[in-house]
Amino acid sequence: MAEKVEILHDEAEIAARVGALAGEIDRTIPGDFTIVGILKGCFVFVADLVRDLDALDRRPRVDFIRLSSYGTARRSAGEVRLAAPAPAGIAGHKVLLVDDIVDTGRTLVYARELMQAQGAEDVWTCALIDKPSRREVAFTADFTGFEVPDIFVVGYGIDYAEDYRHLRHIGKIV
Ligand code: IMP
Ligand code: MG
Repeated sequence: MAEKVEILHDEAEIAARVGALAGEIDRTIPGDFTIVGILKGCFVFVADLVRDLDALDRRPRVDFIRLSSYGTARRSAGEVRLAAPAPAGIAGHKVLLVDDIVDTGRTLVYARELMQAQGAEDVWTCALIDKPSRREVAFTADFTGFEVPDIFVVGYGIDYAEDYRHLRHIGKIV
């Protein structure tokens, strides 16, 4: 960790926001549903979210997909592709897609189409961090935690070159 990280949202603030998101999800999605997390950045967020949902007597199934984006070196998110087989058992289920960050919007748009192609009954989308100024495709997530400007964030599962995922806070590299 050579870089310095400035705290944007501390542990307590994240806990409060994730708890509030669980409430919004509980009020919006009826009945049984499946959380499909988009690896790897979502892993801490999903872990907290499912425990906050349990406190509201909601116990969704949990599954994950792994996506990779191919583009030129300078354009991180070009074409998005599935990097592992799609989870089975999506057909006929309500799905909540969970990602760490919605940036250009390509990942969640692709993942939503994938879930629809798998026969999901209904699909909602959730991202802990939203960078609306970076959008390259029209997309608004149903649930978002924190809005940030065009900055690079790390921590709480989110990496920079595979580092910083362990941080309990969300920070900005300075
Ligand atoms: P997009 O919405 O398809 O552009 O992709 C969002 C994905 O890009 C996120 O799931 C992250 O993996 C990655 N990403 C975007 N912005 C950041 C950032 O600030 N820090 C770390 N990863 C980021
Ligand atoms: Mg990601």
